[in-house]
Formats: sequence, structure tokens, C-alpha cells
Amino acid sequence: MKTAATFTALHDLDADLLILPFSSEGLKKAASPVLEAAGLSDVPLDDFKAAAGDTLVLYPRPGKLRASRVMLVGTGEAGSLDDWHRAASLAASRAVDLDARRIVFDLPAAGGKAKPGIEAVAEALVEGCMFGAYRFERLKSGKLDKGAKKKTPAKGKAKKDEKGIDLLTLRVPASAIAAAEKGMAAGLVIGSAQQMARDLVNLPGNHLQAEDIAKAAVSSGKQYGYGVTVLRKKEIESLRMGGLVAVNQGSLNPPTFTVMDYVPKKKAKATIALVGKGVTFDSGGISIKPSEGMGDMKSDMAGAAAVIGAVEAAARLSLPVRIIGLIPATDNMPDGNAQKPGDVITTYSGITVEVGNTDAEGRLILADALTYAAQKYSPDVIIDLATLTGACIVALGYQVAGLFSNDDSLAEAIEGAGRDTGEKVWRLPLWDLYDEQIKSDVADVSNTGSRGAGTITAAKFLEKFIEGHQKWAHIDIAGPSFPAKGAAKVNGGSGFGVRLLVELLRKWS
Ligand code: BES
Ligand code: MN
Ligand code: ZN
Repeated sequence: MKTAATFTALHDLDADLLILPFSSEGLKKAASPVLEAAGLSDVPLDDFKAAAGDTLVLYPRPGKLRASRVMLVGTGEAGSLDDWHRAASLAASRAVDLDARRIVFDLPAAGGKAKPGIEAVAEALVEGCMFGAYRFERLKSGKLDKGAKKKTPAKGKAKKDEKGIDLLTLRVPASAIAAAEKGMAAGLVIGSAQQMARDLVNLPGNHLQAEDIAKAAVSSGKQYGYGVTVLRKKEIESLRMGGLVAVNQGSLNPPTFTVMDYVPKKKAKATIALVGKGVTFDSGGISIKPSEGMGDMKSDMAGAAAVIGAVEAAARLSLPVRIIGLIPATDNMPDGNAQKPGDVITTYSGITVEVGNTDAEGRLILADALTYAAQKYSPDVIIDLATLTGACIVALGYQVAGLFSNDDSLAEAIEGAGRDTGEKVWRLPLWDLYDEQIKSDVADVSNTGSRGAGTITAAKFLEKFIEGHQKWAHIDIAGPSFPAKGAAKVNGGSGFGVRLLVELLRKWS
């Protein structure tokens, strides 16, 4: 997708789709002159309430506009950045379905002045468009599509014509062109990092192994100028990362432990460690999962994807913070060599763990990575993202992540980033009373809690491995990283966490 900013007159804009955003308040006032220009002043708007994301497609009277279609889209009452993002996302999704490849967003339609400022709105619009236009079709050959045989694909082209938007133009007042361009440039960076994360999440287990996660980080690092080191099976074993080794025991594919290190050119204002769970497929291991819905466990590396996306975006935006991204990766499979319930393992920290359930594997590999982060880098902040518990979906559903932190100001900063981006988080407690549930008779701690509060006992488990670090947060993204059909506006990989983390990292900038 390319972007541009313009102040061309409405009737002169050449586009497949002219999008007119309206707040519910401004609709009546602002809509009439625009609709008049399109020769649509007699269209009854009774069914269009301009709630954030409401859309209505209209066809202008001949000779009135150069654009072939007009779409009204609602930005809600508040016109918050999240509202703009949602509006753009739904409008872009509609545009892709209509095969409108050159679209224009007319900001003056919203009343001339965008409340949060043109630059921020432009960024939210680009990110929203990229989010809504995203389709995961790279595993479709197109061979069974109607008329497929007649077309001979041009050389070097994707197997299937890629759906999407080619050009997004923002129409803004002349004085706002520079601000719009700045916002759009940042939006493109963050939007494409999020799309990359979504691709990784959507790739199934046979297309994405631990080694492929490492490769994705390496190629991103090469392209955008940050360091990536990959520890492979031998080093992981000799470092005694017992959690990662144990989870990988039943697999035919070796584990990887990827370390990304982005060092800003300017003096770093802080060092932030980001840890992402990279389970490329979670069968449950010997404590095998029921087969229904098991395929969704290809998304169990969404934390890793979000971390790669965030580091990439931060590097491209030259944020003045050093970021260490740590990704333990493996699949979790049953096999003769697989770890068994009841096994006691020794993690990288030296803490021993009774494996009550081999399906509580995420916390085992995160344990090693958290200790490694704390010991090796003494970062100012450690944040881990993980599709850690089904219980978090029971508690908060598919649109909200669970948040834990031992530091109130860090928790508030993450909550703030959640409000600004619409990637919502809700804080849960880390009270010590929950430790009772993960006591073990034979080891230092058990990886499974007795019934109840499964999301919290998982977080309490992780807390044991941060070496007493004072600014740690854990974000359980089991729900929003891969929403079930009908539970949110998108299904499949959402890239949740990329925008949240980038917004948070900017707060230290
Ligand atoms: N990857 C799962 C959690 C999960 C479930 C994520 C559904 C997304 C959707 C995790 O490894 C897991 O299996 N957790 C267990 C923990 C239990 C065995 C203590 C769970 O949630 O059931
Ligand atoms: Mn599991
Ligand atoms: Zn898992």
C-alpha cells in the first residue's frame, strides 16, 4: 500500500472510492454540503447513525465527482484515535471486498479539524486501513477459482492476485499536508509490522517451525539494522535452559532461542526487554488437548510475533530506547521422548519445577527466557507477551488481554497505551495468596495450579523467574491474538500487541 496527502478539490479527486468520515454529532451539519457536491443531497440518511465503523456505500450522480463510489463511515461520538482506527479498518475491509484499490479519506468531511490532531489521526487511519485490508491468502493457489485457467499469471507475480489497497490518499487542508505525511509514514511502519506479525500467527505448524521464527527475526534485523543472535539446540542445552529443552523433548524439530537487540543511534533513555512465547504448535504434549479446535494452536506463538513486530517497528521509527527481544521457540508434541506429567525439571534459573501438566508448556519456556533477560541484561523493564491460558479467554473474552505487573506505574502506562490503541488490557492481581495453588511436594514449584484462577496462577508461576526484578509486566494475549469467529471484527491472527508495545515504547521516548 502506498500513501499520499492532497488538498485537491473533492470533485476532482480520482479514486475508486471516496470515503467521507463523520462523527455522529457532526453528521447532520457536515454531510449535506458534501452529499450535495456528489449530487446525493436527496439520499435519506435515517439508517446511518455514524457509530464508529458504520459504513454506507453510495454511487454519485454522473458528472458530479471523478470518484466512482462514495462511502460514508462513522467515527463515533468521541472521535478518539481508536474510533478513527476502527472506522478506517471497516472502511478498508469494505473497499477490499468491492475491489476498490485506490481510496481517498476526506478528513475535512469530519468538520475540518480532527480532535486528536492531524498527525495522530493520519497514523491511526493508515494503521486502520492496513488492518482492515489484510487478508491471509498466501497459502491459496487460486487454482480452483472460477476462470483461473484462462489467466496466465505475469512473471514474478504472486500465485493469486493479491487482494488489498494500492493507494490510500488523505485529503486534508493545505496547511496540514506535512503533518499528515508524517503521521502516515509512521502508520505505514507500524501497520506493516503488524501485518508481518499476523502472517506469522496465521502460518500453520507445518509452515512455521522454531527455526522459521528465528529466520523471520534475522531477516527483519538485517533489513532494518538491528542485531539478532540465534541460540540453537546445543547452546540451549549447554546453557541449561531446562524449560525449553523439556518442552522440545517430544518434537522432531529443534528449538531456537532468538535474541534481538536494537540499540538506538542516540543515547538510549531506557533498556526494555520484551519476551514472547513462541510455541509454533501446542498439541498439549502427553497431556494432549481434545481434537476440537486444536488447529487453532498454530497461533500459540502470537507473543513471539508481537515482539518481532514491535522491535522491527521501533527500529524503523528510530525510537531512543534499547530493546532486547527474547523468543524461546518450539512446538509442544507427544512422543516417546516427550516430557511426562510428574517429571521434575531444572530451569535456567536453577529453580526446579514439577510438570503437573505438559500442556502448561508456555510458562516453562518463558521461565528460562525471563531469567535470561533479568540476569544477562539487567533491563529497566521486562514485559512478556504470551498466549498463556484458556482461562484468560473465559475471564476476559476475545477482545481484551489480561495484564499483570508488580509495578503500578508500568501497569498504568500499559493501560494507557491500551486505551490509545484500542488494544485493551485489564489488570488482574498478583497477590501471594495464589502461591498456595502452585506448591509442589517434590519440587520448588508446580507448573499447574489447582482449580480456579488459572490465569493468575500462571502469572504467579512466571513471577518466580524474574530474579526479583522490580518492573515486570506479563500480558496474557490468549484471547485477542486469535479471536474466534464472530467474537471480534477479525478472526485469525490479529497482530495484537504490536501497536500496544510501540505506543508504550514511545512513552519512554
Ligand atoms: N496455549 C495454551 C493456552 C491457550 C488456550 C491459548 C486457548 C489460546 C487459546 C496453553 O499452553 C495451555 O494449554 N494452557 C492450559 C494450562 C493448563 C494446562 C494449566 C490451559 O489454558 O488449559
Ligand atoms: Mn498448552
Ligand atoms: Zn500453549
